[in-house]
Amino acid sequence: MMKKLVVIDACIRGEESRTRRIAAPIVEALSRRYAVTSYKLADFPMEPLTAKTYAERAAGIVPAWAREAAKAVAEADRIVIAAPFWDMSFPALLRTFLEHISLYDITFTDNGRSCVGLCKCEKVMYITTRGMNIPTGDPREQATPYLHALSTLWDLGVVLTVAAWNMDYSTPEQMDEKIEAATRFGLKLAETF
Ligand SMILES: Cc1cc2nc3c(=O)[nH]c(=O)nc-3n(C[C@H](O)[C@H](O)[C@H](O)COP(=O)(O)O)c2cc1C
Repeated sequence: MMKKLVVIDACIRGEESRTRRIAAPIVEALSRRYAVTSYKLADFPMEPLTAKTYAERAAGIVPAWAREAAKAVAEADRIVIAAPFWDMSFPALLRTFLEHISLYDITFTDNGRSCVGLCKCEKVMYITTRGMNIPTGDPREQATPYLHALSTLWDLGVVLTVAAWNMDYSTPEQMDEKIEAATRFGLKLAETF
């Protein structure tokens, strides 16, 4: 049986998205080896947990889509997250999705001393583009550290970041070069992903 890949696409600008331009050929390459389930977050009817939805969750009432997505993520062998860099992190839409699917006894549980992850995933590929000249690992870049932290909660394994930056201050030619370089890097990672 083919291994499972979950793709979480938070490229809100859709066809305009530079991040998606990098992600598309990488997902295409991976789809030859993995059974792919995609979540296009712009299509999801969600808002952050509110007093009402939090109380419902505490009573065991969780939206069916969130429970299903949480199970798919928990059972995935690999995860690809494609999300542009917004307000020094990833879009709130992605954070909201993660909040909805961070479900006790599905993505994580606890052992009486702390939380422990329940996910099968061994590798996450996080694909992004940034407008400013902010490389991965820069303290101003708060998306990769968050995903590393989430990986320790859910047990997702290593997080590999594929990024292009300074996009909003590049010529169209430079931008194309950056997108091509990031795509090549991601395709290289995909060979052993
Ligand atoms: C709402 C919004 C917020 C953004 N915030 C930042 C930011 O804080 N830092 C930054 O470097 N770029 C920021 N950008 C620029 C994007 O990261 C950049 O244009 C990126 O390439 C967009 O990716 P996309 O084409 O996949 O949507 C922002 C763009 C938008 C639309």
